[in-house]
Amino acid sequence: MIEETRLSTKDFMYPLFLLEGKNKKVEVDSMPGIYRFSQDNMRAEIEQCLELGVKSFDIFPVVAEKYKDKEATYSYDPDFFYLKALRELKEEFPEACIMTDVAMDPYSVDGHDGLVDEDGKILNDESLEILGSMALAQAETGIDIIGPSDMMDGRVEFIREVLDESGYEDTSIMSYSAKYASAFYGPFRDALDSAPKFGDKKTYQMDPANLREAMIEAELDEEEGADFLMVKPALAYLDVIKLLRDNFDVPIAAYNVSGEYAMVKAAAQKGWIDGERAMMESLLSIKRAGAKVILTYFAKEAAQILKG
Ligand code: PBG
Repeated sequence: MIEETRLSTKDFMYPLFLLEGKNKKVEVDSMPGIYRFSQDNMRAEIEQCLELGVKSFDIFPVVAEKYKDKEATYSYDPDFFYLKALRELKEEFPEACIMTDVAMDPYSVDGHDGLVDEDGKILNDESLEILGSMALAQAETGIDIIGPSDMMDGRVEFIREVLDESGYEDTSIMSYSAKYASAFYGPFRDALDSAPKFGDKKTYQMDPANLREAMIEAELDEEEGADFLMVKPALAYLDVIKLLRDNFDVPIAAYNVSGEYAMVKAAAQKGWIDGERAMMESLLSIKRAGAKVILTYFAKEAAQILKG
């Protein structure tokens, strides 16, 4: 009765990795219990999650090297397997809330979220056109939320305009507002084979030392039309979640990222911590800090526990 915070399966959004082809289910080495699924197997995974009460999914494509180029061309080709699968999954599960990721890294030979010139510099404004085309192609599949994770300046406004002009006023934007240049994304980059080929992401992702800068980023994103503001990673940035929660009225989302998942799993496998309790405590603390939506690889497992 006096519990101030209570987790619900409705809080969770479950990230999923989509493979091209059929009949594939490949575990991510650095994320025990998390798989890359081909569309047929992803369908089964989504079905199980819906039964458990997890209704929201963030789907990322695993893009083979042969499809990568400097301009991320395949990211907006309507015949690309990712976009085709999204259309079919959304048709099959209209009750599921599906989010997609807008960033160039999975499709880019450079492994960066934006366009890179010969000197290795990220071209912010030139990237916007590509990100806009990507967002529109994703919206055309009928998905619910666009998730720009690229961190280019001005992209929320740009994407909002592109969507509105084409009649996708109802497609929401969950902006990665305070996305830090973090060591905790390692296992995700293994899963997608999307690590930067050179340099790092520090010119467009945030400095972990900065809290006030998160306010600037969030204010811009809200003004530009974001429907949700996201903080990422979650556990090392609970103060940022709280700051945004206290200052904004749009829902705050937090991404409990791959490295945060991997740490709990690795320690639990060694028998050094109680993995189940550590998982539930982590999720509870993210909610207590003020997150309305928790993106987490634990979604299915935690839902099983919540169901009893
Ligand atoms: C792509 C993207 C990343 C994550 C989500 N979208 C990786 C990155 O920025 O390098 C990381 C998610 C995770 O670690 O779970 N821009």
